[in-house]
Amino acid sequence: MKAHRITLLAACAMAASLSLAQTPAKLKIGLMLPYTGTYAALGIAIENGFRLQIAEQGGKLAGREIEFVKVDDESDPSKATDNVNKLVKRDNVDVLVGSVHSGVAMAMAKVAKDTGTLLIVPNAGADIVTGAMCAPNIFRSSFSNWQPAYAMGEVALKKGAKKAVTITHKYAAGDESVKGFREAFEKGGGQIVKDLSLPFPGVEFQALLTEIASLKPDVVYTFFAGGAAVKFVKDYSAAGLKKSIPLYGAGFLTDGTLDAQGADADGLFTTLHYADSLGTPRDNAFRLAYAKTYKMQPDVYAVQGYDAAQILAIGAAAVKGDLSKKAEFASAVEKAKIDSPRGPFMLSKAHNPVQDIYLRQVTGKENKLVSIAIKGLADPARGCKM
Ligand code: BEZ
Repeated sequence: MKAHRITLLAACAMAASLSLAQTPAKLKIGLMLPYTGTYAALGIAIENGFRLQIAEQGGKLAGREIEFVKVDDESDPSKATDNVNKLVKRDNVDVLVGSVHSGVAMAMAKVAKDTGTLLIVPNAGADIVTGAMCAPNIFRSSFSNWQPAYAMGEVALKKGAKKAVTITHKYAAGDESVKGFREAFEKGGGQIVKDLSLPFPGVEFQALLTEIASLKPDVVYTFFAGGAAVKFVKDYSAAGLKKSIPLYGAGFLTDGTLDAQGADADGLFTTLHYADSLGTPRDNAFRLAYAKTYKMQPDVYAVQGYDAAQILAIGAAAVKGDLSKKAEFASAVEKAKIDSPRGPFMLSKAHNPVQDIYLRQVTGKENKLVSIAIKGLADPARGCKM
């Protein structure tokens, strides 16, 4: 009787360990995005795009079910280090995905670098993340702040502008965007007569708009996104400036914002790595799937979230779900051509997309493709030693 019980116990233990062996642990993804504040809609679109790609992979990556651990980072850099440390040290996530705000992403990159945790940045353009902070375990599915801005500097020159005023939120993304614009614009003989800014996430634009009116530049270059972009475009128009001084921007100015901006955005030119009317079979399929799933149109943030999940899927497949194999993960991603709705792209040595930057113009509710402003633009990755 006793021997029988022992055999039974042993059989149960074996069955349990077999079933454990057959069911790999869930893959834990730390999603650190803004779900409140001026960039809330951007965070939601990124998560939507990310989940859509995971669903297209059958809900699993390399046979592992997915568990999301979500944090609302509030686009607040002062809380970012604590937030990301909790994901890494308390929740033991396998990979970090985030964020939107450059200041938050820099804190995430520091922790990722120090701990060796995989990080995929699905928006924040901080040049340093794929510049001086570049690392084998850090990847970006979006852009560097330099990329769309540099392209717009060239576009402004081609349109005949000689004197520009810039206006942005005063933080890394705005500063770097203006710097990228300046680099191209001054190289071609343009002059920036004044840089204007206000603290993030302020939207008291009135005094700055009055200053623009008195400076009378040929064009205004701007970086604003999310809720602030909506208000800026509306205020610029209400101040009567839209009729007299062309407003150019990095494409975040009019992406995901057109419903709220209405006619005030009509006709605006921007540069970005996505447009609403690419018309490729790949983009059409993505847009249809996104609209069916979420009952809304995708924007650049949704594309970047979708592509962050594609990068993760490629790396995870290469290491058969064992994300501790960082070098093999990186090597697979480095060789991959990402089949993005924006058009196929590869990552640079510094792990930033090398991609076409489109010139778009707002027509009704769309950022319509005008032309390719710069083909296959690679960020200079200044300071990256990898
Ligand atoms: C940034 O902070 O890097 C950023 C935020 C919103 C849109 C684009 C860039």
